[in-house]
Amino acid sequence: MAIIYVDEEKGVDAPETAGTQDAPFQSVSVAYLEKGADNEFQVKKKGEDEYKPAAKAALKKAANYADQQRKKREAAAKRAEADEAALQATLEKAKAIKISEDPELPAAKLINIAETNPEAIGQLRKSKDEPSSGVLRVRVQGRVQRVAKQGGLMFVTLRRGLNLMQCLLAGELAKTYDALTLMRETSMEVFGELWEVPAGAHAPLNRELHADYFRIIAVAPGGDDAFTNLVPEDGDPNTLLNLRHLTLRHDKPSAVMFVRGVLEGAFHTAYKEMDVKKVSPPALVQTQVEGGATLFKFDYYGETSYLTQSSQLYLETVLPSLGDVYCIEKSFRAEKSLTRRHLSEYTHIEAELDFITFDDLLTHLEAVICRVVDLTLEDPVAGELVKKYNPEFKKPSRPFLRMRYADAIEWLREKGIKNTEGNDHVFGDDIAEAAERKMTDEINRPIFLTHFPVEIKAFYMQKADDDKRVTESVDLLMPGVGEVVGGSMRIWDYEELLAAYKREGIDPAGYFWYLDQRKYGSSPHGGYGLGAERFLAWLMKLWTVREACLYPRFMGRCTP
Ligand code: 4AD
Repeated sequence: MAIIYVDEEKGVDAPETAGTQDAPFQSVSVAYLEKGADNEFQVKKKGEDEYKPAAKAALKKAANYADQQRKKREAAAKRAEADEAALQATLEKAKAIKISEDPELPAAKLINIAETNPEAIGQLRKSKDEPSSGVLRVRVQGRVQRVAKQGGLMFVTLRRGLNLMQCLLAGELAKTYDALTLMRETSMEVFGELWEVPAGAHAPLNRELHADYFRIIAVAPGGDDAFTNLVPEDGDPNTLLNLRHLTLRHDKPSAVMFVRGVLEGAFHTAYKEMDVKKVSPPALVQTQVEGGATLFKFDYYGETSYLTQSSQLYLETVLPSLGDVYCIEKSFRAEKSLTRRHLSEYTHIEAELDFITFDDLLTHLEAVICRVVDLTLEDPVAGELVKKYNPEFKKPSRPFLRMRYADAIEWLREKGIKNTEGNDHVFGDDIAEAAERKMTDEINRPIFLTHFPVEIKAFYMQKADDDKRVTESVDLLMPGVGEVVGGSMRIWDYEELLAAYKREGIDPAGYFWYLDQRKYGSSPHGGYGLGAERFLAWLMKLWTVREACLYPRFMGRCTP
């Protein structure tokens, strides 16, 4: 016998409720049902402060309720037992049904699920009555995406990458053990003829494979280990990340990865069109670019080295040999906070342009971004996927809004948006992520935020001619994400660069190669870095840049 507590206001009626003062039930009836009659029930009524013994009438009502519920549970358990027995009997019977490929049929031609070329797939069959001339017997291989049963028919949607094919199993095929136990993700091969789908019905590419035979290539588990139980699409985000290798098989993650590939291709195309050459700088370095606080250090044969934060400095050094250059490489940042837009490893799309002005840099950026968006949306599959997941996406129109940092500070003050200390923004403040987000969301179009103060930007940035307090720098802010690009003109005078190292307390010795750039025929030049994951988050309206990565890396996660 124990004391079971019931708090009508704060309690919870659930089988796992302990019934203690810390975890009370909400009703005497459920407490009685779960813990049994052999207990003392203390009740705190709504609006009261004290527990009192449960009233006799309440206990009687609870006993009736418990009795009813127990009967219901017993009946349900019996039904489940009977269902299970029937299922086992059906499965046992199904094991006896053996199917084999009919040797009289023509050999099936292996085709890809996505294949549409009539030469490869033959004619689609229209009906039983039409002559079957030109119809080929084919076979396809893929994984089970969906299974639906209708009468004695089974509709199995097979998936190969992003492509789907509906297969129809009928007659004995649908009664086999393999068919009855078919689980999502099982890989299989289906043989048969391709038919047009009947009028009013829908299937991928308006066709379905009427199977005359199938074979399982490898099963996927059912029960607790079933794909849909382990990684339900709306599952806990942390679990989905722990099982990212499986999560990636869902529609949205695979769509995002696909669009990401097209997007990277679009950058390559756009740069090629603009005669910007591709290079591949190293990731293991001994210099910093964006400040020491976010460097990942490691031991390189006994010397301290770092994972690169940006390839910018190396890109600058190849301007004289190749002209305008770009790279798409990984950058690494030891970001010590968890935000929606920070990763420890990200894909950095960086370009460097020679003999340009700051205005040229901004115009080039607009051109690249608009071209890349066009190219991505022109891809028939990627274009549809962007529309599906971000139906409100609008192509940015040129010119982008240009706003000086000082004006942004004024804008934030006018709107009453405070800095991280809760005060009005003042010139010199870093515009923090939250304030930047509010600004971009309210203005709701791409913004070139320019001319940041020298003190809050990296050592290499060229000062503006008209105001030496600020740099010729730019952040491109996008609605929903904030900063996606950071760029600037670079200090190109040798002495000025040396002074910048001194100001920032950086030893210039390790940067001899970067300084030589200013010694051997220097030039006004500039460039930028664009975070591929942030860009994709903007394009596909992703909640976080983590969704834009195959296997995201951020503080606390380096696996799988
Ligand atoms: O503004 P950042 O730090 O600029 C540079 O690294 C320059 N050296 C680039 C250059 O001029 N070549 O970073 C550039 C962009 C940001 O605008 C952002 O999109 C992305 O890189 N980025 C990150 N993305 C994800 N996670 C992080 N921790 C990021 N840090 C920067």
